[in-house]
Amino acid sequence: MDLYEYQARDLFEKHGLPVLAAAIATTAEEAHAAAIKIGGKVVVKAQVKVGGRGKAGGVKLALDADDAREKAEAILGMVIKGHIVRTVMIAAAAPIESEYYLSILLDRSNRTFLVMASVAGGMEIEEVAHTAPEKLAKIPVDANAGIDLAKAQEIVKAAQFPSDVAEQVAHVLLKVWELFKSEDATLVEINPLVKTSDGKIIALDGKVTLDDNAGFRHPDHEALVDHAATNALEALAKEKDLNYVKLDGHVGIIGNGAGLVMSTLDVVAYAGEKHGGVRPANFLDIGGGASAQVMADGLSIILGDPDVKSVFVNVFGGITACDAVANGIVQALELLGPKATKPIVVRLDGNNVIEGRAILAKAAHPLIEQAETMDGAANRAAELAAK
Ligand SMILES: Nc1ncnc2c1ncn2[C@@H]1O[C@H](COP(=O)(O)OP(=O)(O)O)[C@@H](O)[C@H]1O
Ligand SMILES: [Mg+2]
Repeated sequence: MDLYEYQARDLFEKHGLPVLAAAIATTAEEAHAAAIKIGGKVVVKAQVKVGGRGKAGGVKLALDADDAREKAEAILGMVIKGHIVRTVMIAAAAPIESEYYLSILLDRSNRTFLVMASVAGGMEIEEVAHTAPEKLAKIPVDANAGIDLAKAQEIVKAAQFPSDVAEQVAHVLLKVWELFKSEDATLVEINPLVKTSDGKIIALDGKVTLDDNAGFRHPDHEALVDHAATNALEALAKEKDLNYVKLDGHVGIIGNGAGLVMSTLDVVAYAGEKHGGVRPANFLDIGGGASAQVMADGLSIILGDPDVKSVFVNVFGGITACDAVANGIVQALELLGPKATKPIVVRLDGNNVIEGRAILAKAAHPLIEQAETMDGAANRAAELAAK
């Protein structure tokens, strides 16, 4: 789960990182009130889960509370990289002298954690990483050893932080590590980490990604979920314990087992090339028990997606054999009744495949077509979606 900047800021504060006074607002009036409370110059910042808000005009300095109202008016409702701004954060304005970059992330390819640090932070950091990679220090962190003061000092030195701030930055890094570890984050990024004109180090912008797989250890993280922004079908799937991911194509996919579903995505994308670039609309894994109810839940989620033009059910019978799956599909269609409206291509294989195919043939449901092979089924589903 990615957090909004204001949520990251609150986590920073909780873990003792230096941040500025701030409040959120969803109307210009609230922004005005927040700016009065904070006092002095403030910054009005769009709260959307994408970077580059500054360049897109979503971060604006306001001289006083009236100005903050005006700036909030302009930023609320703005669309930044496809995200509508519904909330702004009003933060005290910092007198910036230098902008640095600091992050810790999970480096999957190297099976370790990685600290990245640079004295050339701010809005151009991607550019710096690209054109002057030597200005971005990348230091692996052993998961067992973590970051102690000596390691933090080594990193600060490698990134060539000026000596007047080195000690402060090292202590900030220790706290970032503590946050990263104790909150089970996979990314904590501060950009910019600034030095103010009076020599203080402050985190001005934060990006945090929490590991959902560790959610059971953090009941308090539930409050950070933005339910309004969660896709309704994804929420429904989660409620039904189904593994569903929305994609951007038109063939709905249901399979049992993540491996089979992933290879189904590949064959559908491949077959789709012959039909004008048709692609999978989702990833839905019904897991081991393909009962009628599970199948009905899966199908109703898929059919509820207006992007879906055809459905491909790809099941390899194992412990739940093909005849049980076939019965599940037939009963699911009965449960769904007129809500089932799109063609469904079914490929069954594995345990009791003959019985399973016979059940579907006998039911002769007008929406169901059977295919013998995975490639054949993918091709037919893509063809139906392209119609
Ligand atoms: N509280 C603040 N006070 C002064 N300047 C700020 C403040 N917050 C952000 N800025 C300036 O705006 C720039 C962009 O803001 P930031 O929060 O990093 O958004 P983004 O990374 O999405 O562009 C920063 O690099 C900094 O120069
Ligand atoms: Mg930033």
